[in-house]
Amino acid sequence: MADSGGMSSKVVLISGGASGIGAAAARIFAGRGAKVAIGDIQVEKGAALAADLGDSAIFVRLDVTSEASWREALVETLTAFGALTTVVNSAGVSIPASIEDETLDGFHRTMAINLDGTFLGCKIAVEALKGGKGGAIVNIASTLGARSGAIFPAYSSSKAGVRLLTRSVALHCAEQGYDIRCNAVLPGAIHTEMVEGYIAAGEAAGGSREDVISGFASVHPLKRLGRPEEAAAAVVFLASDEAGYITGADLPVDGGYLA
Ligand SMILES: NC(=O)c1ccc[n+]([C@@H]2O[C@H](COP(=O)([O-])OP(=O)(O)OC[C@H]3O[C@@H](n4cnc5c(N)ncnc54)[C@H](O)[C@@H]3O)[C@@H](O)[C@H]2O)c1
Repeated sequence: MADSGGMSSKVVLISGGASGIGAAAARIFAGRGAKVAIGDIQVEKGAALAADLGDSAIFVRLDVTSEASWREALVETLTAFGALTTVVNSAGVSIPASIEDETLDGFHRTMAINLDGTFLGCKIAVEALKGGKGGAIVNIASTLGARSGAIFPAYSSSKAGVRLLTRSVALHCAEQGYDIRCNAVLPGAIHTEMVEGYIAAGEAAGGSREDVISGFASVHPLKRLGRPEEAAAAVVFLASDEAGYITGADLPVDGGYLA
């Protein structure tokens, strides 16, 4: 097992680790020798992934909207693996609705998971990582936090918030002299359960699966959807010691969408 980027000394807590980009990151981290706590509300899926990864991983029940839940997940991670080095905030939801269709409750729900959840993840991370060495926080924002669409008032607002939250955390840690970097990955359309939700909605509206997928693909210059492991590779890089001089950055993994 190759130890690139100091991975064998990393203890990583991943929110939203049961599925998609978070799960792909868990696999890469574990494969490179890190210890991984997979945090999610999807207990069965998260536990199955942890079992598959063996001694390198545990599942911790985590609802990112609750500070108490974050604290419990942190304690479980510390108990299993010792000092935490890395937090990946991947938990998120994307529920399309235009400004005319979105409700205040719906808007709040998206903000609670995507933005409050990432805020809490950063807060817990800074608390746990300060005083340590090689700390890193990686937040999953979105290209839709840089450009928007008519059906994304809530999602785009939450992800734009995640981008600037990331920079503020990075600047604070630098100012305080903490050895903690904080960066954001901005995925384009990555073929996960989240995008499967859009495909199902497109099919329900009478489109074919192929048409919906090629619709997504067509707005990305590389003309295809990304794979979860392609977004996860950027997460792992930003978490690694190889990215030691990178903080406060946005890293698009978007097939050229933002170019
Ligand atoms: N897939 C894409 O095209 C895409 C594009 C840009 C950004 N993103 C972002 O990437 C991240 C991962 O998304 P994905 O595509 O892997 O989707 P996914 O649906 O496969 O995974 C999201 C995970 O978050 C978990 N989650 C939801 N609410 C939670 C909560 N309250 N507490 C803990 N976990 C919770 C879900 O259970 C799920 O396991 C999200 O933040 C998403 O917004 C995805």
